[in-house]
Amino acid sequence: MAVDAPHRTATPRPTVLIARSLPCAGHELLAAACEIVTGGLDVPPEHLRELARGAAGIVADPTVPVDESLLEVAGPQLKVVANFAVGYDNIDLQACRRRGVIATNTPDVLTNATAELALGLTLSAARHIATADADLRAGRWAGVDPGAYLGIELSGATFGIVGLGRIGRRYAELVAGLAGEILYVSRGPKREVERQLGAVRAEFDELLERADVVSLHAPLNPGTSGLIGRGQLRSMKPTAILVNTARGQLVDSSALADALTRGGIGAAGLDVYEREPDVPAELLAAPRCVLLPHIGSATRRARNAMATLVAENLLAALRGDEPPNRVA
Ligand code: DGY
Repeated sequence: MAVDAPHRTATPRPTVLIARSLPCAGHELLAAACEIVTGGLDVPPEHLRELARGAAGIVADPTVPVDESLLEVAGPQLKVVANFAVGYDNIDLQACRRRGVIATNTPDVLTNATAELALGLTLSAARHIATADADLRAGRWAGVDPGAYLGIELSGATFGIVGLGRIGRRYAELVAGLAGEILYVSRGPKREVERQLGAVRAEFDELLERADVVSLHAPLNPGTSGLIGRGQLRSMKPTAILVNTARGQLVDSSALADALTRGGIGAAGLDVYEREPDVPAELLAAPRCVLLPHIGSATRRARNAMATLVAENLLAALRGDEPPNRVA
């Protein structure tokens, strides 16, 4: 007697929306288990919403607002939003919690890359490296001029670090060889860093008044939005350097442009802006200001590791396991 072959219904593979782009290291891991839909770097918000419909997972990044309306349009099968970033201010965590959607980030793997870029911005701002390079290329160099490109020497400088999390701490380690003194502002004391680097916890106002370099490493939240405004810039030294590799909303860019223009502070190095990819015209026109296009984590090593973490977090959540880097 013929026996019917066992009938198996294939479980449909979950759909994952990569909102913009994900490096191969993570893309391949996801593609092995999921159907991938990709928005692309220039995906318009309305199109992104259409693509999100029916997704079980969404890969976002700091330029993708994950709000109530995106979660709503995605639908009740959405289990996880995996952010390609350590910062997750683009995600409405409360809305995720309300809907039982898990949110994850990519800490640790970009610490070195971002702290190293902050150091690069510090040096570049202190020594006019970007301007001098641009001048030379444009044929504006007529030989050594003893009075030109005079910078700020960092040996012995007081470094003020705002936010002594992973990246702030690594920045502190990197500048320790230059620093005369390291001041920091943090929600709580960091005894190990104090012991290892001689860093001293300070009040925010004191740090601003005393630091030769102020480097921002705080996350964006209601308490840090607008942290550096006109008043804070006025309390900084006229030679001080402001470095921001955290989030643009920490700094009032119009106030910063004014301060640079009137010589209120020495220089600035920025990697992040309030409404990326827009860079305020005032900042573009401001003197002694190095501007980079949000490349803090842009090393091959960091970006591949971030992509791998995104995939690991997302796949764990889809399996029903606890993802390694859950933030909601
Ligand atoms: C982060 O990880 O938050 C960075 O800003 C992304 O480049």
